[in-house]
Amino acid sequence: MSDRSQLIETGQPFNFDAQRDAEFERLIKRYPSRESMILPALWLVQEQEGWISAEAMAYVADRIGTFASKVYEVATFYTMYHLQPKGKYHICVCRTLSCYLLGKQEIVDYIIEHLDVRPGEVRADGLYSFEEVECLGHCGSAPVVQINGEFYENMTVEKLEELLATLQ
Ligand code: FES
Repeated sequence: MSDRSQLIETGQPFNFDAQRDAEFERLIKRYPSRESMILPALWLVQEQEGWISAEAMAYVADRIGTFASKVYEVATFYTMYHLQPKGKYHICVCRTLSCYLLGKQEIVDYIIEHLDVRPGEVRADGLYSFEEVECLGHCGSAPVVQINGEFYENMTVEKLEELLATLQ
């Protein structure tokens, strides 16, 4: 998995738009512990921007009334949160046991060699970004690939090639 400890600063302050601001206020009433709101608040940031900057994390900490370090811990732990802008197609390959045993490395090698993008990177033309992630929860039909939130099971290099051809 790529290094998720590096945050990107945009140099611009972050604010929720009106829709996310209203959603944040609606949700926070549901949580007795305000820190439980870190996960949904980060999700709102990602819905709005597509990724989560250092400024957005500071904003979330401020809105919730917690330490920025707590928001950082959550955002860097879960690979569903994107800490840099993604490519048009964001490819996640599960690296956990079932997928590992059933051939995820062949798929990873294919992506690196043929799509020219390494884990944690965005290809120069912005078409693909790629990440190796922990269990995607479909272990019975490993190996599993997720592209822009859609799951593709029993994946092979051949099936991935066919799939990518339909996406472009
Ligand atoms: S191990 Fe890959 S989906 Fe669970």
